[in-house]
Amino acid sequence: MDARACAARVVHAVTAHGRSLTDALPEAIQKEIDSRQRALIQELSYGTLRWYYRLDVLLQQLLKKPLKQRDADIRCLLLTGLYQLSQLAMPQRVAVNETVQATKALQKDWARGLVNGVLRNYQRQAEVLEGRVDNTVEFRFAHPQWLAQMLQTDWPDAWQAVLDANNERPPFSLRTNPQHLTRDEYLDELAARSLEARPLPHTATGILLARPLPVESLPGFAEGFVSVQDAAAQLAAGLLDAKAGQRVLDACAAPGGKTAHILESTPDVAHLSALDIDARRLERVGENLSRLSLKATLQQGDAGEPAAWWDGQQYERILLDAPCSATGVIRRHPDIKVLRQPEDVATLVSRQAHMLRALWPLLSPGGMLLYCTCSVLSDENSRQIGSFLGSRTDATELPINAAWGRECAHGRQVLPGDDDMDGFYFACLRKLG
Ligand SMILES: C[S@@+](CC[C@H](N)C(=O)[O-])C[C@H]1O[C@@H](n2cnc3c(N)ncnc32)[C@H](O)[C@@H]1O
Repeated sequence: MDARACAARVVHAVTAHGRSLTDALPEAIQKEIDSRQRALIQELSYGTLRWYYRLDVLLQQLLKKPLKQRDADIRCLLLTGLYQLSQLAMPQRVAVNETVQATKALQKDWARGLVNGVLRNYQRQAEVLEGRVDNTVEFRFAHPQWLAQMLQTDWPDAWQAVLDANNERPPFSLRTNPQHLTRDEYLDELAARSLEARPLPHTATGILLARPLPVESLPGFAEGFVSVQDAAAQLAAGLLDAKAGQRVLDACAAPGGKTAHILESTPDVAHLSALDIDARRLERVGENLSRLSLKATLQQGDAGEPAAWWDGQQYERILLDAPCSATGVIRRHPDIKVLRQPEDVATLVSRQAHMLRALWPLLSPGGMLLYCTCSVLSDENSRQIGSFLGSRTDATELPINAAWGRECAHGRQVLPGDDDMDGFYFACLRKLG
C-alpha cells in the first residue's frame, strides 16, 4: 500500500464527498499494513486537512490551469506533497520522490511530470509563495473565511490564539477511575512503565500523557482503570454535581464519556438515563460502560421529543451536551474546517434551542440542567442561553466560579489550548419553584 496515495484518497473523500476523517481513514487503510505506514497515512491525511486552506491557495499559484474534476485525486496528492514540504521535517528529496511515485498507485502515471514539476517549483519559490499567502487571515491560519470572521467577532482579543491552537496537534488526555485507583496511583503505574505523564489542572482525575498510545497499551485500560477524555470534557461531571439518590438524564450521551464520568464520581445516583438519537452510537455507550463495569438505562430517542421516551418522572439533574458546530475540537478533527458550512450554525442553534425547551419540563423544581457544547461560537453558547433565560420565568443561571476558562455574558467558555483543554462551553441553569 502506498501511504501517500492512500492519504490522497482520504483527503479526496473528505473534500469531494463530504466524508468525515473518522469514517474515511479506517476505510482507506488496509488491515495488514504495519504501524509505521499507518501512522504516516494518518499524519498526511490529518495534516493536509489541517492546512488545507493554505495548501490549496499555494497550489493554485503553482498550477498553470486548474486540474479537471476527474483528476481531483491528483490535486489531493499534490496537497499532501505540499504539506510534507511546508510543514514536516522530512527530507525534501524523499517527500518529492515518494509523492511522484504515488501517481502510479493512483493509476495516473501521466501525472508524474506534473507532480514533480509542481513540487520542485514550490521548493524553488517557497519563501515568496508562503510570504504572499501570509497576508490573508484565511490562508495564514488555514481556516475558512466565514469561520475566521465569526471568531474575530466573538473573541476580539483571542481569535488569533484560537486559530493557532486549532492548528496544533491535540494532547492525549486520560481520565482515571476513582472506583479503582487514585490519579497519583495511576501516575505511578505510568512512571513504572517509563510513560511520561503529568496531572491535568482543574480536574481531580485528568492526566496528560506526553505521547499518544494505542488505548490497549494503557495499563489497566481493559479493566476500566482509565479512559481517554479531554480535560475540558472532564469538567462536566463536577459542574453537574449529581448527588446520591438523584435521578439524572444524560440527554445526548453517546459515546458515553460524560455518562461514565458521572457514574464513576457518583455511583449511588438513583437512576441515570443515557439517551441518544443514534442507535449505533448508543451501542458504544453500552460497550464503554461495560468495560468500566458501570450501569445506566440506555434509551434511544430524540431529546427534542420526550413524549416518545420519557416515563413521566422528573430528573433532579439533566446534562444537555448538545450537538454543535464542534468548533472547539478542530485540532482533533481538522476536517471540520472543510465540512462545516456557515448555514449549519443557524440550523444547530435552532436545534439546540428546541432541545432546551423540550427538556426543561423534565427537570424537577430546584433541579439543575447543565448545558454544554464543544463549540466556541457565542450563538450556540452564551447567546443561546441568554435567549433561553429571556423566554422563561422559572429559570435562573447559577454562576460558575472557576479558575479555568473565561466568564461570558452567560456561562463560561474554555477556548482551545487553554491549559491543554479543548474548546468547551458550560452553563448551569436552575429551575425555580
Ligand atoms: C457532543 S456528542 C455527545 C458526547 C457525549 N456526551 C460524551 O461525553 O461522550 C452529541 C450527541 O448528541 C446526539 N444527538 C444529536 N441529536 C440528538 C437528539 N435530537 N436527541 C438525542 N441525541 C442527539 C448525537 O448522536 C451525539 O451522540
